[in-house]
Amino acid sequence: MMERIGIGIVGLGTVGGSVAKIIEEHGKRLAQRAGVELYVKRAVVRNPSKYHHFSFPISCDVEDLLKDDDVEIVVELMGGVETPFEIAKKVFKCKKALVTANKAMLAYHAQDLIELSKGLPFGFEASVCGGVPIIEILRDSLVANDFGGFEGIFNGTSNFVLSKMLEDRCDFSQALHKAQELGYAEADPSLDINGGDAGHKLLILAKLAYGVCVKPEEILVEGIEQIGLEDMCFADELGYAIKLVGIAKKDGEVLDLRLHPALLHKDNDLSNVNGVKNAISLHGDCVKDLFVSGFGAGGEVTASAVIADIVHIARLRNASPYPCPPFGFFEYQNLLKIKPLEEIQSAYYLRFIVRDEYGVLANITSSLAHFGISVKQILQKSSHSEATIILITHCVQEKNITLALQEIQKMDWILTSPCKIRINE
Ligand code: NDP
Ligand code: HSE
Repeated sequence: MMERIGIGIVGLGTVGGSVAKIIEEHGKRLAQRAGVELYVKRAVVRNPSKYHHFSFPISCDVEDLLKDDDVEIVVELMGGVETPFEIAKKVFKCKKALVTANKAMLAYHAQDLIELSKGLPFGFEASVCGGVPIIEILRDSLVANDFGGFEGIFNGTSNFVLSKMLEDRCDFSQALHKAQELGYAEADPSLDINGGDAGHKLLILAKLAYGVCVKPEEILVEGIEQIGLEDMCFADELGYAIKLVGIAKKDGEVLDLRLHPALLHKDNDLSNVNGVKNAISLHGDCVKDLFVSGFGAGGEVTASAVIADIVHIARLRNASPYPCPPFGFFEYQNLLKIKPLEEIQSAYYLRFIVRDEYGVLANITSSLAHFGISVKQILQKSSHSEATIILITHCVQEKNITLALQEIQKMDWILTSPCKIRINE
C-alpha cells in the first residue's frame, strides 16, 4: 500500500478551497508525481458552517490541526500578518512542514521564519506572481547568476484595474469591484491599490535574488490611487503604458529597490502584460535576459503553486534535516545598501493644468532648466481658457524634480497640483 501524507489547511477561501478541491479531485495524478498519496486530513476556518461541501473535518481551532499527528504539512491560506505568524511558529514547534501563500507575513517575518524553520520544509511559491514559478526560478534555476536587476508586475488586481479602465473606459471602482468578484483582490483591497501587496512581493524577490533583509517601511512604495484615465490616454498617445512596477537595480554595493506606477515604453515586454497577468523581466550575468509571464492571482492559479510546494516537500519526505534553504541562502550578510529616495534617477512624465496664457510653457521649461532638467517631448491640449501640458523629461535625480515642481506649483497660472509619474526606461 502507498504511503500517505496528511495535509492540514488553514483557510478554505479562494485559494484554500481550490487547493482542497484539486487534491481531492486529482489525488491519483498527484500521487504518481509525489510518490506518496496526498490527502486533506482536516482544515481550520473562522466559520465552518460555510464549508459543509467539503468531506474532511473542519473546525475553528488551529490546535485541532496542530495536535493531529497525521497532519505532516500545514498549508496557511488565511492571510494577515501576526496571527498566521503565530500559527507558523507553532507549526515549526510541532515539527511539521509549512506551505504558505502569505506575502504580507513573509515581508515582515521572512528572517524569523527562516530561523524557526531550520531543518524543516518551508514553501512559499504561491506568495509571488500566482501561477508563475518565480520563487523556484530565482532560488534554484538561476543560482549561478549575479543579478544586475529585475523589473516586474507583481499585483494582478492593480494590473487588472489599469487594463480594464483603459480597455472599457470604465471607472476605477467598477474595475476594482470586478477584480474582487473574480477572487483576485486581498481581503483588504487597499493593499492591492496602494502598492502594499506588490511591495511585499518585491521584498521577497529581492531576498531571493540578493539575500537582503529589508522591511516594507525601508523602500519607496506608491500605489495606483492617483492614476487617472486621462494620464493613461496621454501616455498611450506618447507611446507608453502605465503599470505598477517593482524595480530592483544593483549598482555596486547599492540596491535601488522601489515599487511605484511607471510609464513603460511600448517596446518593453512588460507594457503588454494586461489584465490579471504578472510578469518579471530580469538580467543575470550568465543567463542574460529572461522574461516570464502568467496569471498572477485567482484560486486555481495560486493553488497550482501551493501544490507544487506540497509535492516538492512530499518527494523529499525522507530527507531530515530538510536540505533546501527556503530563500536559497545558507548565510545572510546584507552587503547591499538601499538607495535613498532623493538619489533615485529617472525620466519623468509631468502633467500641468494651467491657464492658457503667453509664456506659461516657457516659464515651466525655464524652471525645469534651473534645476538641470531637460525636456525630451512635449504634448499640449487646450480647451477654452485651460491647457494641459505634458512633458517627458530626460533622466534626472528625484530631488531635482521635487524642487522644480515645488517652484512651479507657486505660479499663479497653475490650476491644479502637477502630476508626476516616473518613466522606467
Ligand atoms: P479568502 O479571504 O478568500 O479566504 C480566507 C480564508 O481564511 C477563509 O476560509 C477564512 O475563513 C479563513 N480565515 C481567515 N481568518 C482566519 C482565522 N483567524 N482563523 C481561521 N481561518 C481564518 O483569501 P484568499 O484565499 O484570497 O487568500 C488567502 C491567502 O493567499 C492570503 O494570504 C492571500 O494574500 C494569499 N494569496 C491570494 C491569492 C488570490 O488570488 N486570492 C493569490 C496569492 C496569494 P472564513 O471564511 O470562515 O472567514
Ligand atoms: N491580491 C493579489 C493580487 C493576489 O491581486 O496580485 C495575488 O498575490
